[in-house]
Amino acid sequence: MSGPVLQNNIVGIFDSGVGGLSVWRELIKVLPGNKMVYVSDNAYSPYGPRPQSEIVSRAVEISEFLIRNGAGIIVIACNTATAAAIDELRWRFDIPFVGMEPAVKPAAQSSKSKVIGVLATKGTFMGRLYNSTLRRFATGVRVVEKVGTGLVDVVESGRADTKEGRELLEKYIRPMIKKGADHIVLGCTHYPFLSEQISQIAGEGVTLVDPAPAVAKHTFEIMEKGGLVLKERINQLEQTKFFSTGSVENLKRVARTILPSLDEGFFEHMD
Ligand code: DGL
Repeated sequence: MSGPVLQNNIVGIFDSGVGGLSVWRELIKVLPGNKMVYVSDNAYSPYGPRPQSEIVSRAVEISEFLIRNGAGIIVIACNTATAAAIDELRWRFDIPFVGMEPAVKPAAQSSKSKVIGVLATKGTFMGRLYNSTLRRFATGVRVVEKVGTGLVDVVESGRADTKEGRELLEKYIRPMIKKGADHIVLGCTHYPFLSEQISQIAGEGVTLVDPAPAVAKHTFEIMEKGGLVLKERINQLEQTKFFSTGSVENLKRVARTILPSLDEGFFEHMD
């Protein structure tokens, strides 16, 4: 592998595609001294409709790759992969894994209307984690769930501002608003890249809840406990090595909306 030398205090991050970059942008804020490796499994995106066993085997293969490349901790920056694979990954590998979970708890606690919307993939809604979170934290709150079919592709291909993207969002968001939701949980890491469009449809009084900052903070805490946080700030443009099993272009385009001058040399194809 060319590019920056990787060490053991490296943060591994993966998602089915570019969505995990919404978590990565929070991780580089709280861990400015640690190198990171990001894998977009674009060749297998979207994960949402895939059987659990297939997502587990993708997650295992990518985790092996990240560990080979020095990751001492892995952030599963994908709600669907967390729901399907986190137990297996923790069982197989001897490093910490941090997962995503739709932010139902903060949304339910701050809701005044006591109605919240959750937009996620089918795999996430079927997961044990999501359902136990609902039981624990959403009692007395009406939860309007919508599977965001098609939205991952819209983000992957940069079509957020097209008629098709807007129509899909209207179909999912309007019923939540109609039922009185004052919070919408972004239950897939791709959806923060649609925040602007979602807010336009939802209107002013509706808060979008993205769990990424809390996940980044949790990752920092685990690393700090393990003495893995490096204090000396690295140039952000050289901090992360990006890999994609499919389109490297999608990854570059979205990563550059966060750090515009990211260098070509830091993006590679993963076989
Ligand atoms: N970013 C993934 C998530 O958080 C997208 C899942 C998919 O590929 O369907 O769930």
